[in-house]
Amino acid sequence: MRNSVLRIGVLGAGNWARAAHLPGWRRDPRAEIAVICDPEAARARDLAGQFAVPEAAADWQDVVARSDLDVIDIATPSHTHLELARAAIEAGKHVLCEKPVAYDFRQTRDLAALARRRGLKTKLGFTFRYSPGVLYARSLLDDGFVGRPFVFNGYEQNSQWLDPAVPLRQVDHTADQTALRTSSLEGYGAPIIDIGHWWVGADYTRVVGTMRNFIPERVVRATGRTMRMNIDDGDIFIGEYVNGAIGSIQTSYVTIGNYPGVEARLYGERGAVICRLVEEGGVAETIRTATPDAVEFNVREIPQRFYPPGGHPRESWRSLFYANLIRDFIDEIRAGGTRNQGNFEDGAWVQEVINAVERSYREARWISLPLEA
Ligand SMILES: NC(=O)c1ccc[n+]([C@@H]2O[C@H](COP(=O)([O-])OP(=O)(O)OC[C@H]3O[C@@H](n4cnc5c(N)ncnc54)[C@H](O)[C@@H]3O)[C@@H](O)[C@H]2O)c1
Repeated sequence: MRNSVLRIGVLGAGNWARAAHLPGWRRDPRAEIAVICDPEAARARDLAGQFAVPEAAADWQDVVARSDLDVIDIATPSHTHLELARAAIEAGKHVLCEKPVAYDFRQTRDLAALARRRGLKTKLGFTFRYSPGVLYARSLLDDGFVGRPFVFNGYEQNSQWLDPAVPLRQVDHTADQTALRTSSLEGYGAPIIDIGHWWVGADYTRVVGTMRNFIPERVVRATGRTMRMNIDDGDIFIGEYVNGAIGSIQTSYVTIGNYPGVEARLYGERGAVICRLVEEGGVAETIRTATPDAVEFNVREIPQRFYPPGGHPRESWRSLFYANLIRDFIDEIRAGGTRNQGNFEDGAWVQEVINAVERSYREARWISLPLEA
């Protein structure tokens, strides 16, 4: 067990670093942010100033190579994650990385194995796994509240890109537009597929799904112009789990509703749990449960132990949930040993499911998992 304060290097000084990552590290006295790095040097300097971080840098390779850092935190655009995460692990750092690490699950799995061989911990930005309500639900499952799971339903949907004039980030506008490409499934499917995996406690044996492009033309941030973007902005799939449970997942960023728009429902032989992570009336989330003798779903108060220090139901979900994620990562690093939940292996499994659903749509059939079998 190491007791010294963990020193963190943050790559990426954009919106999500500001709203979630930096407040999370700053909230925990067992960590200190040593440097913020962004090729847009002014952005790194501004954010370092806001969060009283002593250094700002522009070259990520210099930061990753430093010997005075324990953790590299990657909050950069998706297409950079793989290169940065690999370099950080090779340099002997624990890594927190936004999802996806890579578009091909095999690459994420290879990195997970490399980190394990080197005794390093990894964590994916699976924000919603760490909401107080989802953590509380997981503890109810551990106590046997649901019993044998029958059906999982997961949603991650909101309307942040319903208006085509709102610039879409992170899409490759140079890609071939003749075939529909995954977008919402990857960006918004990942966290809820992960929660289903974690709650049901089993892998999928097969999946079948479909994707749609509802808004054909939209403004792309990289160009500032309206373009044809043939990307999935809504999708649904169903799957069968190894333990006999079945499930469905639905994601979209053009379906009306508030952030973050996550809902997870698990129905089992002894009980049912519905976690609704949709900011409503200023409250970030609600959890409701029912049992066979009390079938009316009732709201449960989430015990304070599932909140980060100073956290409460009316805090912004962005900082609230991420503070729990970062606290958990610090716990895992300091404890040593093997405990490492929501890691790159979980990320690889989720990405494999996404790759399978995409193939299912293209080939109009069920796809068996694991993909290599
Ligand atoms: N887990 C979640 O719930 C969640 C929510 C929002 C965003 N995200 C993810 O967070 C990441 C960042 O999103 P954002 O909205 O902050 O984007 P953003 O565009 O606002 O910020 C990204 C920043 O990274 C910088 N950057 C690019 N390459 C870099 C490099 N090699 N080294 C250092 N900095 C580099 C860019 O200059 C930019 O300032 C994305 O992967 C996004 O999908 C996750």
